[in-house]
Amino acid sequence: MKFAVLTIFPEMFVPFWEHGIIRRAAESGKISVSAVNIRDFAEGRHHVTDDRPYGGGCGMVMKPEPLSAAIRAVKADMPSARTVLLTPQGRIFDQKTACELSSDEGIIFVCGRYEGVDERVCQGFISDEISIGDYVLTGGELAAMVIIDAVTRLIPGVLGGTESAEKDSFSQGLLEHAHYTRPRTFEGTDVPEVLLSGHHKEIDTWRLETSLIRTFLKRPDLLKNRTLSIQERKILKKWCADIENIIRDQPLCGTDPLSGSQ
Ligand code: ADE
Repeated sequence: MKFAVLTIFPEMFVPFWEHGIIRRAAESGKISVSAVNIRDFAEGRHHVTDDRPYGGGCGMVMKPEPLSAAIRAVKADMPSARTVLLTPQGRIFDQKTACELSSDEGIIFVCGRYEGVDERVCQGFISDEISIGDYVLTGGELAAMVIIDAVTRLIPGVLGGTESAEKDSFSQGLLEHAHYTRPRTFEGTDVPEVLLSGHHKEIDTWRLETSLIRTFLKRPDLLKNRTLSIQERKILKKWCADIENIIRDQPLCGTDPLSGSQ
């Protein structure tokens, strides 16, 4: 997979390319990465890339000529690549979109700055607009890094045998189960016994249960939008029965603070 990023701050990407899994993926040829300076495509002595907005108002707008020239130059090398503009107006990026992008041959990211990009570039040169959330960054660079990171780890062979994208939070529609490593006791809290038992089936069931509990407590919206497996249904029904038993066995005491009755 080829990633090209069009930006006026290409230096921001150097430490990103040079660490961790992104670096390993680039070294092994699973991905290739480049940050292209939009300024190199700007005419004139000062290589200006922005200008005042027609109609007045505050802020600056990215000029169309340098951006379009930069996109054309990069596209010549990556004709099948989609051209993604990072903007808070785009569709919200999630794990499903990461999966979809991970099977592309190449992606060209266009990082907006200032108030935005001249509309004629958006209409004539951009195939997708993506946002990483409902907040406004000072530019698209961090958003591009977030997307490249999430997409790269889904490319087959990028994560080693011990790291797996299949069990990630979200990939199965649930948050991931709890994790423990050594020491066995840390500041008075033990690792759950079942994880030391060596019973793989019991460990799998425990993991699924912690996954379900976390999703229920932290992201109930994910559970609502999901088709439950038979095993998941059984676990949830057992919790319901357990909770009902606890309530049934409680003696009624005290007053209801809202109604004043028992
Ligand atoms: N540029 C500015 N804010 C952004 C956001 N939330 N997502 C993507 N690109 C952006």
